Amino acid sequence: MRRALVAANWKMNGTKAKVTELLAAFKEGISTDNMDAAVFAPFVYLPMTEEGLSGTGIAWGGQCSYTAESGAFTGETSLAMLKEFGCQYVLVGHSERRTLFGETNEVVADKVAAALEQGVCPMLCIGETLEERESGITEKVVKEQIDAVIAKVGIEGLGKSVIAYEPVWAIGTGKTATPEQAQETHAYIRKMISEHDTNVAENIQILYGGSVKAASAKELFSQPDIDGGLVGGASLIAEEFVAICAAAG
Ligand code: PGA
Repeated sequence: MRRALVAANWKMNGTKAKVTELLAAFKEGISTDNMDAAVFAPFVYLPMTEEGLSGTGIAWGGQCSYTAESGAFTGETSLAMLKEFGCQYVLVGHSERRTLFGETNEVVADKVAAALEQGVCPMLCIGETLEERESGITEKVVKEQIDAVIAKVGIEGLGKSVIAYEPVWAIGTGKTATPEQAQETHAYIRKMISEHDTNVAENIQILYGGSVKAASAKELFSQPDIDGGLVGGASLIAEEFVAICAAAG
C-alpha cells in the first residue's frame, strides 16, 4: 500500500518572519501518523527549517541541487550541503527550472543520478505545457521525461525516487486539472513504468501538482493513482497546507 505524501514548494518566497510562522503552524497542525509531509524551502531558510521541523515527522528538502560535490560552481548548491542540513528530499526538474533555467531532460537525469548517489530522494517533476496538451502529446512528453531518467539510473533508480506530475498549465494559474484528467495521466505514468517493472510501478509515489487547494485536495487524492500532492501557492498559507495534509491522511 502506497503512503500519501504532501510536499510544500515555497519557491522563491518567504521572509524569516514568514518562515518561522509557517514552520510553527506546520509543526502544530500536521499529523504524519497516516501520511508523509515535506517542505521544500529556499536554501537560505534550510537551517531554520531544520531547526523548526527536527523531531516532527515532517521532512524537508532543497528546491534544486548541482551534480558536483564541490568546486568552482558559483551560485550552485551541492547535495552534500543539503544533507548537512538534514534534507531528505530534493526537487529535480521542476517546470520552472526547465523553462526558466534551461534544464533539459538530460540535465534532469544527471541530477536524479547525483541525488541517488548521495542518498537524497529525488522528487522528479514532469508535465506537459498547454500547447503540448492541446496537440495531444501529453503522454509522449511525460514518457520522454521519465525515459531520460530511466536511461540514466535504470528502473531501480526511478524506483527510489518520487514523481510529481505537474501539468505546466496548472502551475500557479488557479487552473487545477480535473481529478479525472489528473488520474488519466497518473494511470498512464504507472502503466508505462509497469512495462519496465511492475513492482516499481505499484510502489512508486506519484504526486499531483498544479494549483492544489484545500478545497480540491480530497477529490484529487482519492483517485487511485494519485498519491498526494506538490503544493506551491497554497503551501504559503498555513491553514491551507495543514488542511491539504489532512486530506491525505
Ligand atoms: P502551485 O505550484 O500549487 O502554485 O500551482 C505547484 C508547483 O509548482 O510545485
